[in-house]
Amino acid sequence: MSGPVGVLVPAAGAGVRLGPGAPKALRLLAGEPLLVHAVRGLRACAEVGPVVVAAPAPDVDAVAALLAPHDVVVVAGGAERHDSVAAALAALPAQVGLVLVHDAARCLTPSAVVTAVVEALRAGAGAVVPVLPVADTVKRVDGDRVVATVPRADLRAVQTPQGFRRDLLAAAHAAGGQQHTDDAGMVEALGHEVVVVPGSEEAFKVTRPLDLLLAEALLAARRGADPVPGTRA
Ligand code: CTP
Ligand code: MG
Repeated sequence: MSGPVGVLVPAAGAGVRLGPGAPKALRLLAGEPLLVHAVRGLRACAEVGPVVVAAPAPDVDAVAALLAPHDVVVVAGGAERHDSVAAALAALPAQVGLVLVHDAARCLTPSAVVTAVVEALRAGAGAVVPVLPVADTVKRVDGDRVVATVPRADLRAVQTPQGFRRDLLAAAHAAGGQQHTDDAGMVEALGHEVVVVPGSEEAFKVTRPLDLLLAEALLAARRGADPVPGTRA
């Protein structure tokens, strides 16, 4: 499918797991809000067209000012992530037929991941997710007892950006499916195929305090100071 690729950036979460402080998207990383890093990364991708950010409702004006240099539309997010995605989708220009949904919290995602998702969409996929193999052994538990060890060879951890034909994403959100933790899950629930492309360790989601330290270290490595082993070619 040809035409512009729009990006929806859910950035309205509180960041409860990060601990007390500003909403996660506004927490500082190397002196700049996470969201600025995320949007700058998207804008560095030639494939990316219109960008709509869903910000915490009280911070919409501040976020719009913060992102003024980056040519984005800012809307108020909702109580749950899927509410924020739906609000951003409603603000995406009508002519945009391909859509990426990208967590602001995956603020250092390499552009190669974005490109891989867009290429799969252009090649005809209706829904695309970047994935990584699962490194840990995974067990199912019941209370404090292990019930089963889950074979991990065919398990994948899923990242963003997730890519969609706009009509599929809109149908998935219209159908509800609020129990799903990602957009591809909602599309799967409608019976549509979702294809995978390689993700990146550098596309990790800043979730807990340790992730902020990791993000600082990765940024420093990219900027040429104190390289972190394994993070650069
Ligand atoms: N998000 C959103 N609107 C919400 C909840 C989450 O736009 N109501 C966004 C977050 O800002 C983040 C992405 O969805 O960029 C992934 O969510 P998560 O990592 O869970 O972030 P938070 O919900 O902010 O964190 P926590 O669950 O620890 O509160
Ligand atoms: Mg959350």
